[in-house]
Amino acid sequence: MSKSVLQCINPQCGKRYNALEIRYRCDCGELLDVIHDFESFNRTGEMWRKEFKKNLQLPAFFRFKDILLPDLPEEKIVTLFEGDTPLYLANRELQRIFGIKRLYFKHEGMNPTLSFKDRGMVAGVSWANYLGVKIVACASTGDTSASMSAYAAFAGLKRVVLLPEGKISLEQLCQPISSGAIVLGLQTDFDGCMKLVQELTAKHPIYLLNSMNPFRIEGQKIIGLETISQLNWKVPDWFIIPVGNAGNISALGKGLREAYELKIIDSLPRLAGIQVEAANPLYQSYKKNFSDFKPVVAQKTTASAIQIGNPVSAKKAIREIKYFNGVFEEVSEKELLDAKAIVDSAGISICPNSATAVAGMKKLREAGVIREKDLVVVILTAHGSKFSQATIDYHKDPKSTYSNPPKTLPPTLEAIERALNL
Ligand code: F0G
Repeated sequence: MSKSVLQCINPQCGKRYNALEIRYRCDCGELLDVIHDFESFNRTGEMWRKEFKKNLQLPAFFRFKDILLPDLPEEKIVTLFEGDTPLYLANRELQRIFGIKRLYFKHEGMNPTLSFKDRGMVAGVSWANYLGVKIVACASTGDTSASMSAYAAFAGLKRVVLLPEGKISLEQLCQPISSGAIVLGLQTDFDGCMKLVQELTAKHPIYLLNSMNPFRIEGQKIIGLETISQLNWKVPDWFIIPVGNAGNISALGKGLREAYELKIIDSLPRLAGIQVEAANPLYQSYKKNFSDFKPVVAQKTTASAIQIGNPVSAKKAIREIKYFNGVFEEVSEKELLDAKAIVDSAGISICPNSATAVAGMKKLREAGVIREKDLVVVILTAHGSKFSQATIDYHKDPKSTYSNPPKTLPPTLEAIERALNL
């Protein structure tokens, strides 16, 4: 019997279910949270912090397990050594360009499958392993499918991925193919795939591993707390994060909320969720004070991983933005591509989706919402090498602000000297 329970996110309903039951929604149709019995640990904030510092040789998930999935038996954990990702302090040039001195980048692209999704998958696939399921599935804009396929492969589970055909990068497509998933390219967008994977997993004994599965959220929850532990428990003024299906911002919020309630941290940061203009339903809702939320039809964007018009976790995201006195912002294609070029050129390779967060941070700083003296952490969600086409296209285009095209030369020293102005 698990001490953790599933609970409806609608406070008016609040119905609870056994955590070992396979379900992704309440009977009323709302999403579920995993609620843990933290009191049974009987720890002060200081005791929790000490606990996280133990066993530094173990993957992050083991160290943080008590706050993520306390009921999961250790022998069921399926890990590829995700986590403990670098937290980079911006170099002088980046500090100058963005007008913030205490600017940090938390690079989640340095995880085993090169995105933050591994944080959720260690939890989701381990829970699947614990439950004894045989087949797992997800819809994806690329990174979830890459991560799920790798973790499920490692655990020996059959794996199925539903992808919007032609709408993800080649590198992302290679990942589930090579790790042995059944890869289904559907002639629809991500929202269409998401709808179908819910129908598929409702009808057949296939375990759904999108972030509407609340155990995924539990794993992703740790990114904020891990960052704060790297800052020696100093709480940033801001966390900035790109938003697509809205699982990650929901997880970041839940993790920080719980850490505050357990007195592991002594103040609250603010959250900023950044969307692209091409797929901005949460930004639009924010502009109307969240009086309503309307899905949109997502348009094409270079930030293809967040080309999502109907985010499954919209309600959870809104809950967290309200709790953390947060904001949503939107950015254009030019703004995000220029931001990518700026951060890439400092030696930190980022993807267009991560660049969305960087561009949003820049806009919020210019508007004075973020102040010069603030301590700011931008979450970079995937590695640049997953999106080489976007990078090549930008740098080969002479109209790009920071274009840096490769030059083709005859094989002579003279030609090289001329190219180098020597
Ligand atoms: N950044 C990257 C690189 C992503 O792959 C995603 C989501 C996000 C940001 C947005 O996170 O959905 O939790 O708000 N990718 C999903 C996928 C949808 O299928 O890989 P979110």
